[in-house]
Amino acid sequence: MPSDHSDLLTLTGLSAHIGGQTVLQDIGFSLAAGQCMAVVGGSGAGKSTLLRLILGLRRPAVPQCGHLRFAGREQALATAAVGKPDGIAYVPQSPAHGFDPLRRLRWQWKQLQRLLGGQGDSDAVMQALGLPPLHRAYPGHWSRGMQQRLLVAMALLEQPKLLILDEPTSALDPLIAAQVLTEVHRVTQARNIAVMMVTHDLALAARFADQIAILNKGRLVEAGPTQRVLADPCCAYAAELVTHRHWQRGSIQETAAA
Ligand SMILES: Nc1ncnc2c1ncn2[C@@H]1O[C@H](COP(=O)(O)OP(=O)(O)OP(=O)(O)O)[C@@H](O)[C@H]1O
Ligand SMILES: [Mg+2]
Repeated sequence: MPSDHSDLLTLTGLSAHIGGQTVLQDIGFSLAAGQCMAVVGGSGAGKSTLLRLILGLRRPAVPQCGHLRFAGREQALATAAVGKPDGIAYVPQSPAHGFDPLRRLRWQWKQLQRLLGGQGDSDAVMQALGLPPLHRAYPGHWSRGMQQRLLVAMALLEQPKLLILDEPTSALDPLIAAQVLTEVHRVTQARNIAVMMVTHDLALAARFADQIAILNKGRLVEAGPTQRVLADPCCAYAAELVTHRHWQRGSIQETAAA
């Protein structure tokens, strides 16, 4: 994908190791404000590692080289003091990493609101994501899918420039997954928030993403506009994913129509 200085995020030449093994090699792409990019690839391809490095998290993967430009500020990723760029909100792959299990959800929500200065249309977003009132629930009282949706609502509360979602629909049934992504899409479009979303579901990616990036064994084998990638994948691995993307589609359409 060509990059220019109007892009919100530009990553160039990122390579990273875990314990001496290369897990990402020469990754580069760019994303404009308000655009949605789906990051797709098999288990162990390096998707979560890529997201974590953009967030400035350097364990377990250690960047060897690469530059990140976000909202006009450039960082060399291999330098020691890299922090999370301002303006990025993140929902981790496992909700267990997003909540304190010993604190009530309501307390955690209020803490975040306090930190952010009490702003926002939080109730509307929670309702749109199909969440019940928090009442006195602890994280363990809610299903993994509900916890993940609450983390999405909390991330939106931060009013980020970029929302990073690591497999936001992995714990959701197809109907709820489509509803949640529809709502995320609505809110992020209305607020010009860019989205990077890891998913195994290329059919959902095709529906919501402007760009698709395909990772295979730590390499970016494909990156481009969704329609182009689907119509004309430029490598055998991408072509295979594209060919098999419809296997879940029937279930989504059937449940959505019900
Ligand atoms: N804590 C760790 N220690 C050692 N190796 C790790 C660790 N975390 C990830 N890796 C390795 O780094 C590579 C990339 O892992 P990563 O979690 O980024 O993959 P992924 O694409 O997100 O996979 P999944 O779809 O299963 O979430 C894999 O080879 C994985 O085995
Ligand atoms: Mg992962």
